Amino acid sequence: HHPFQVNQHGHLEIGGLDTITLAEKYGTPLYVYDVAMIREKARTFVHTFEELGVQAKVAYASKAFSSIAMLQVAKQENLYLDVVSEGELYTALQADFPTDRIHLHGNNKSVEELTMAIDHNIGCIVIDNFHDIDLLTQILQEKNKKMDVLMRVTPGVESHTHDYIMTGNEDSKFGFNLENGQADAAFKRLFQHETICLKGLHCHIGSQIFETEGFILATDILFKTLAKWKENDDYTPSVLNLGGGFGIRYTAEDAPLPYEKYVKELVIAVEHHVSKLDISMPEIWLEPGRSIVGEAGITLYTIGSMKEIPGVRKYISVDGGMADNIRPALYQAKYDAVIANRANKPANNHVTVAGKACESGDQLIKNLPVPEVESGDILAVFSTGAYGYSMASHYNRFANPAVVFVENQTDKLVVKRETYADVVRNDLSYE
Ligand code: LLP
Repeated sequence: HHPFQVNQHGHLEIGGLDTITLAEKYGTPLYVYDVAMIREKARTFVHTFEELGVQAKVAYASKAFSSIAMLQVAKQENLYLDVVSEGELYTALQADFPTDRIHLHGNNKSVEELTMAIDHNIGCIVIDNFHDIDLLTQILQEKNKKMDVLMRVTPGVESHTHDYIMTGNEDSKFGFNLENGQADAAFKRLFQHETICLKGLHCHIGSQIFETEGFILATDILFKTLAKWKENDDYTPSVLNLGGGFGIRYTAEDAPLPYEKYVKELVIAVEHHVSKLDISMPEIWLEPGRSIVGEAGITLYTIGSMKEIPGVRKYISVDGGMADNIRPALYQAKYDAVIANRANKPANNHVTVAGKACESGDQLIKNLPVPEVESGDILAVFSTGAYGYSMASHYNRFANPAVVFVENQTDKLVVKRETYADVVRNDLSYE
């Protein structure tokens, strides 16, 4: 079910290169990205808006995978960029990402973050709460500057996804609540504030979503509020940001929609409300993260020890695990994988893939169908391109793996493997 080829040696390829050769050259665990696929996903969003003749901005949600090389690719593809922290903003600056194309998010932005964003003249700040309004207007006043902002609201739409990644429901730490008057109160403070240009509304209803209903419902709800503000204050938005969350295929059970379909249905929903309200069409902004990089990334591991508990299960252990991919342990996320050096062999066994962290829950895949496996084989786990590297930890003092980009049958190291010296770099002596 994966999009990659197998060569005449029975080895899995990525971007036309042999994964076994890559594993030998760079070591394992190793994150490898097919850059052509990243570009293709990005272009799908951008081109669909172009075909529809709708003004739009596609902002890559860099939390999914941020590195200088990745942000350079996003820049080359004319994407905008969603950052949520000083660290993500710093990475964008290091990548020379045009600052007017950067949008800052966050439910607890610090004075330092806001100041950094303002000093670099970033394109837009998404206001999340009243504290944001206080800090932002104060800093802007001191600096005698103005800023384009969106107001993040929670439309109370539940997306069918795992609880941990549901950010758009009523009981959310993000955004202004639409039902209890908070959004109206925030609007009153922002609308016509001398430092603020209120471009419109933002909502993000969740992640790994496989239908369009949730987005359309959220649009309906946003327009109820917009109709009220038009009536009372003659306010019309120039931007509507509907967030990210477009689902990808992790396993054969996942059936993601073509991204064109989300875009087209969203545009139709917005156009419907726009004509009813008799306002001009706002720009539509999206923030895809996972859908741009998720399927383009794989992780290569070397299989080491194996343990069979007769009649129960067989474990195969790999040289990484929850430190480079926390998603199975944190969200019970499912993944698919193949033995990359035997990718053409029929799978007649089932194994549980265990990581090497000192924790029983460090299991990457349960009941993975595999052919005969030997210690030293290479396991390729698919669809690890989003929230893998970006959520990596140093648990057990593992060094973070390297990241390699593959494009035009050429491999390029874009993040060096950490050394143990890197791991202890900030440790200070106490003797
Ligand atoms: N915009 C906002 C405001 C968001 O909060 C998020 C994700 C995105 C865009 C991008 O969503 P995406 O297109 O990647 O689904 N660590 C979790 C996902 C957390 C998502 C948080 N917000 C995971 O590994 O599944």
